[in-house]
Amino acid sequence: MIIDVDGAVDALKHGNLVAIPTETVYGLAGDASNPVAIAKIFSEKGRPSHHPLIVHIAQVENHAWGQTLSTWSRDVPPEAVTLAKHFWPGPLTMILVKSKNVLPQVTGGQDTVGIRCPDHAMTQDILQKTGMGLVAPSANKFGHVSPTMATHVESEFPHLLVVDGGPCAVGIESTIVDLSRVDTIGPVILRLGAISQQDISDVLQRECSSHSVAAPRVPGAMAAHYAPKTPLLLMDKQVSINQDARLANKKIAWVHFGQASGLAHMPVAAGSVEELLPAQAQGVAQLLYSLLRRLDQQNYDLICFECMPEDGDLMWQAIQDRLNRAAIGSGLIS
Ligand code: TXA
Ligand code: MG
Repeated sequence: MIIDVDGAVDALKHGNLVAIPTETVYGLAGDASNPVAIAKIFSEKGRPSHHPLIVHIAQVENHAWGQTLSTWSRDVPPEAVTLAKHFWPGPLTMILVKSKNVLPQVTGGQDTVGIRCPDHAMTQDILQKTGMGLVAPSANKFGHVSPTMATHVESEFPHLLVVDGGPCAVGIESTIVDLSRVDTIGPVILRLGAISQQDISDVLQRECSSHSVAAPRVPGAMAAHYAPKTPLLLMDKQVSINQDARLANKKIAWVHFGQASGLAHMPVAAGSVEELLPAQAQGVAQLLYSLLRRLDQQNYDLICFECMPEDGDLMWQAIQDRLNRAAIGSGLIS
């Protein structure tokens, strides 16, 4: 059911869940200090209880981030304040050593907590009016594609309360940077997003590494996480389409970037279609999850993505990352 900001504030104060809009994807929100609300999030999503949640916080006046962050973290490094000043509100989550008032249910028993200040007016209004930190994973069933529109949430959770804040402006999940060990190993990117590794290195004026896949600390880092049911294939420049046996006689949804090329010369079956995404990475990110959801309902044998444009935009890496996971999650490892 769609509700307004005041309805959301009321529901959250009573320990209920509300799906909220953010600039990245919709989140399934509950009071971060209420263990019953947190338990509801895990059961709604079907999410394993050791997977930590991100705490969403309100924007602060005059960039006084140090003080606000110290209510959530017992060790706020100067790098965290610098990044908050620069990127918040915005699509960046920081992992910090948690303070003792953060419930273990929020952090999956870990000694660290993920914090983010989302850039969406309605959700900022909700955060200000409740005065709460809101834990909010993406509002999808565990392992499924994240929602970028209120209707996506409603179709997966028909009984949930949803605040409709329109389509998400960014469209893919926030960048996650781990600052909990910044003094020893420096900043580490755990998940790519609209804010790139380079952006973070530039602002901190120090090198920022990315985590090794061998040691995932986040489900977002699990290979098969964003999974459509239809097999999904990412085309490889090296393979000639006409000789690709994986395509032969299949009913395919063929996704282009910027420009469609026609299916006439392709070895596809009747009923195949072309889909056009923009040529720019930002536009692609906005539409990607909607497209995956729509195509996944249409009984194609295969969803094929052609190679992405190479225009130097680092956001393509985040898109590539999501598509790789979707390909693996769909059962086709290419
Ligand atoms: O853009 C986003 O981040 C969205 C919107 C709703 O804010 N949220 C989101 O939440 O993507 P979720 O739960 O689907 O993904 C959050 C990721 C998970 O992979 C989780 O494991 C990781 O953040 N995470 C949260 N706390 C962590 C911690 N203390 N240490 C390491 N990873 C953490
Ligand atoms: Mg998620």
